[in-house]
Amino acid sequence: MKIKQTLETLIRQAMVDAGIPEPKPIVKQSQRAEFGHYQANGVMAAAKQLKQAPRDLAKAILAMLPPQPDFSFEIAGPGFINVRLSNDCLSRALSQAASTIALACPAPRRIVVDYSSPNLAKEMHIGHLRSTVIGDTIVRVLEHVGHTAIRANHVGDWGAQFGSLLAYLAETGHNESAQAAALSDLEKFYQAASKKFKQDPEFAETARGYVVKLQAGDPTLKQLWQAFIATSMDHGQAVYDKLGITLSKADAMPESQYNDDLLPLLDSLQNQGLIERSDGALCVFLDEFKGKDGSRLPAMVQKSDGGFPYLATDLAALRYRYQTLKADEALYVVGASQQLHLRQVFAVARAADFIPEQLTTRHLAFGLVLKADGTPFKTRDGADVKLIDVLNEAVDRAKTLLAARSEGLTDEEQQVIARVIGIGAIKYAELQKNRTTDYVFDWDTMLSFEGNTAPYLQYAYTRIRSLFRKSGASPMGPNSEVVISTTEETALALKNLQFQEAIDTYLDDYQANVLCNYLFELAGTFMTFYEHCPILSENQTLRSSRLRLAELTADTLKTGLGLLGIETVERM
Ligand code: ARG
Repeated sequence: MKIKQTLETLIRQAMVDAGIPEPKPIVKQSQRAEFGHYQANGVMAAAKQLKQAPRDLAKAILAMLPPQPDFSFEIAGPGFINVRLSNDCLSRALSQAASTIALACPAPRRIVVDYSSPNLAKEMHIGHLRSTVIGDTIVRVLEHVGHTAIRANHVGDWGAQFGSLLAYLAETGHNESAQAAALSDLEKFYQAASKKFKQDPEFAETARGYVVKLQAGDPTLKQLWQAFIATSMDHGQAVYDKLGITLSKADAMPESQYNDDLLPLLDSLQNQGLIERSDGALCVFLDEFKGKDGSRLPAMVQKSDGGFPYLATDLAALRYRYQTLKADEALYVVGASQQLHLRQVFAVARAADFIPEQLTTRHLAFGLVLKADGTPFKTRDGADVKLIDVLNEAVDRAKTLLAARSEGLTDEEQQVIARVIGIGAIKYAELQKNRTTDYVFDWDTMLSFEGNTAPYLQYAYTRIRSLFRKSGASPMGPNSEVVISTTEETALALKNLQFQEAIDTYLDDYQANVLCNYLFELAGTFMTFYEHCPILSENQTLRSSRLRLAELTADTLKTGLGLLGIETVERM
């Protein structure tokens, strides 16, 4: 049962019946128990419109409602309607909850999600964590509610960095041993090549030449390039596997795959009269893109040397997502710094009719990962911190924490739990922040067993599981009845039922902190229930009812953490 939706429908109808032409009930979950479980806040605005006293109008609306055994209504303050669910209604809804947790999607859509999308040749660094983890949650939730999520890992495998790699390799000799050495530590090789690129103009010139040759299909260069790509993809996959991200190599839709589409794409833009030459480059100028000084901002689709820039590939990719992948919606989980780039991609694609009106495009931006002192996350010598090192450190730290806490776990069990806690902590710390702002990466906070953290939620889950283990109680299952008499039971029942609403809110703007906060509140509500409501010492009916409530909570926690890509364990 979707409580909020049910109430909205009910109150909207009553508002119509009370003579309000276009009613907006504005139903919300109440933040405080004294305001009931839900509130309808739309009466005040309607009263203003109709020039009536809000409380009188609220009374008139309530009078229109048919008898409601499930809900009680109360007018509060200047004209709020507070709603309380009856205990009976809650128990009934709960017995249906198990079957409604995976609600069928009313209108399934095909949604392409562009996420992770690192540039190849160098290893993934901490900056790639955000797109990867945020995107992973998006695809999990979309699939959970019944949409088709198409994972698009738009890896950068075609850019200037490969010119440097190839040119550098040529200098060290194009032989097998040189190549093997390069591939064995690609990161080091990449650093050396890009340093040379910056310092040596002649080398840079050669490197640029190699890119053009590569893009034109030179077979030798292509073979070498492929070896670099394969090694780099292996590095990436190792990170995804360690992180528990649902991306496989098959989800890579690399920039190079659009190579053959670029000239026809340029033709099409040209035929439509959208292209202007500017400083030797080919650009699209659209009215909506102006600099601060009012000057027109170009969207460059071909460089003066004939090469194709980032934007051209993205146009081809977006068209592919619509035409070939048949997307209804295209989401881009990409850093906030690329906002202008993506706005231009979307706008040019629309202006050129590469995508139709009804295709939704959305940039889901995120900020930076910072160190505690507010500076960007770099090593002391200014290099990027490798993501794989961060993940390994997380697991090591979790292992140390566990060793101090847990007794009676085998080494092997500790190993598994350390991975689940360490990786979970990193993901949750990421997801629990507002997506759009920068955040500080802090080991101690994220690995704490107290507060709004993954270890806290994972621990709450194991506590419920241990309740079952210790009591020898068997699983209650969806058919067992829940009877509600105390306020703590009411609160816990209601919280469990609101899981679906948290998912709905999340889907509005893909802010995972909505889900995190929901789970944190659920765990807190459970702890209060557990303190106040004895379970194992009660009579049969009460005992099994409360066990069922506990079980439902464990299920919701596990499902909810699962949507965030976070695992649970039975004990820790
Ligand atoms: N490879 C790009 C980078 O590392 C991110 C790609 C994002 N996706 C896209 N379709 N532009 O900055």
